[in-house]
Amino acid sequence: MNPAIIINITYIVSVVLFAIGLKMLSSPASARKGNLVSALGMLLAVIATLLTKGLTFQWILVGIVVGSLIGVAAAYFVAMTAMPEMVALLNGSGGLASVLVAWAVYHFAPNSDIFTTITIFLSVLVGGVTFTGSVIAWAKLSEKISGKPFLFAGQKIVNFLILGAILVCGIIYTMHPAANYPIFIGTVILSLILGVLAVVPIGGGDMPVVISLLNSYSGIAACFTGFVIQNTVLIVAGSLVGASGIILTQIMCKAMNRSLTNVLFSGFGSAVQKKGTAVQGEIKPITPQDAYLILEAASSVVFVPGYGMAVAQAQHVVRELGELLEANGADVKYAVHPVAGRMPGHMNVLLAEANVPYDHLVDMDQINSNIASVDVALVIGANDVVNPAARHDEASPIYGMPIINVDQAKTVFVLKRSMRPGFAGIENELFYKENTRMLFGDAKESVQGLVAEFKSS
Ligand code: TAP
Repeated sequence: MNPAIIINITYIVSVVLFAIGLKMLSSPASARKGNLVSALGMLLAVIATLLTKGLTFQWILVGIVVGSLIGVAAAYFVAMTAMPEMVALLNGSGGLASVLVAWAVYHFAPNSDIFTTITIFLSVLVGGVTFTGSVIAWAKLSEKISGKPFLFAGQKIVNFLILGAILVCGIIYTMHPAANYPIFIGTVILSLILGVLAVVPIGGGDMPVVISLLNSYSGIAACFTGFVIQNTVLIVAGSLVGASGIILTQIMCKAMNRSLTNVLFSGFGSAVQKKGTAVQGEIKPITPQDAYLILEAASSVVFVPGYGMAVAQAQHVVRELGELLEANGADVKYAVHPVAGRMPGHMNVLLAEANVPYDHLVDMDQINSNIASVDVALVIGANDVVNPAARHDEASPIYGMPIINVDQAKTVFVLKRSMRPGFAGIENELFYKENTRMLFGDAKESVQGLVAEFKSS
């Protein structure tokens, strides 16, 4: 058979494996296998590409060895909670690769046809923004630089001027590519600067949304690069990444009830922000001993984990408490809000790490439909995602955000260390409700206290 046909058939198999893998990622039960299926698709695509082009393998092998060593080390040593930073760096690498491949094609064939010339320009623009934007996102998340939004007067105008300058460079370069090497280099530099300026005004807490968006950009850049080097599987894989990244970005924005423009341009987390209507009332603390007495009599209990559970690393002891409650005859569920924590799927990852059975996880809509019949809602380090102000306080920055309605459960225990606010920086009226009791302390220690009560009874 003609080698070109074999390659194309392999590419089609790869693309089908990518699509199946992506679909499998939509459920925690199949996500791991989905990852493997997609990785197999990529392996086939890489092998097919390497076998077709009559390449010399010396440097390619060096690249494979170095890249594999870095990848394996990162996968083993990066903490689960540092995954968003790692994803940021991976996106950045994708963007940089697009810039370099497009640049190399231009360097060795500056007089390409108009289509290739335009796709080289687009690869450099999107890849450059993705690269430096991702590096800034990584630096903010890992606190190498301040996570605060960096705002200055006329920032948006400066960004638009730079974008305008890039487009002008693009037009000049496209008309006479071979004669305009300096203009091409100018495009590369301006794109890199634009990536920095686009991300610095965004607060560290919003970085997961930005990373998801940059993930989408890295896919779009790869797609353009696929056109540059006429590689079908790169075009399709890039499109899949571009589309899924933007869908995830939209899901996150919707779950936070914020528009993408608000995330990108509002400087969320800076001083100028709505605080919501002041909350009045009395808080009612409870001890683990008293909380145990109520839990012991409960026939249905729902855990609502949030960012504090990740900070306290309380997931294992939460699972242990869940098992004790079940052994005591209670129906136990774990309700996961889509933006609880600080990265997509943050709570799912932690609960899976602690071996909480997948069928015990319920999403926000499922739990809200029968929350009134829940005896005890145990809020473990969650705050914004259970703040009832989101339902009715139009002055609140989280007004309109869908929340888990734990205040409608019969009794609510909130486990946190203090009355400090969560990510949105606002008070939570849940803490003052008649049916709420505050179990103050580190979430892990508080849950350990409850476990100890169950075990000693
Ligand atoms: P938050 O509203 O951020 O609240 C977390 C709470 O955990 C804090 O009030 C804190 O109170 C408590 N806490 C911290 N360390 C603790 C510990 N060791 N033990 C016990 N409690 C501890 O968290 P959430 O409810 O999960 O909401 C997530 C927020 O992040 C939302 O506003 C969401 O929009 C935003 N966000 C999420 C994402 C994604 S993708 N998940 C991305 C960007 C932004 P104390 O300090 O008093 O203990």
